[in-house]
Amino acid sequence: MAKITYIEHSGAEHVVDVETGLTVMEGAIRNLVPGIDADCGGACACATCHVYVDPAWMPLTGQRESMEESMLDFAGDVRDNSRLSCQIKVHDALDGLIVRMPEQQG
Ligand code: FES
Repeated sequence: MAKITYIEHSGAEHVVDVETGLTVMEGAIRNLVPGIDADCGGACACATCHVYVDPAWMPLTGQRESMEESMLDFAGDVRDNSRLSCQIKVHDALDGLIVRMPEQQG
């Protein structure tokens, strides 16, 4: 279980407990967090689950895989800390994770 803070582009914060084994995207969808649409359901095929990982957490969320990298080409305003939230598995060490949603998913 990890407590994850999702911050919308507007600044609205949503703090939710996400079960280990789910993805950061699934944690948002199951808790009705706005700003993550996840149109493809987690297949790394839509880029509507784009988030910015708080820089302090980047070492714990892992690296982008090549498929994620190419899908991010379809996302807007991609930054160094951009990830597809469906590709980040939740584990206990992510307790306290902070992610922010980009403007176009607001
Ligand atoms: S949900 Fe579609 S790429 Fe993540």
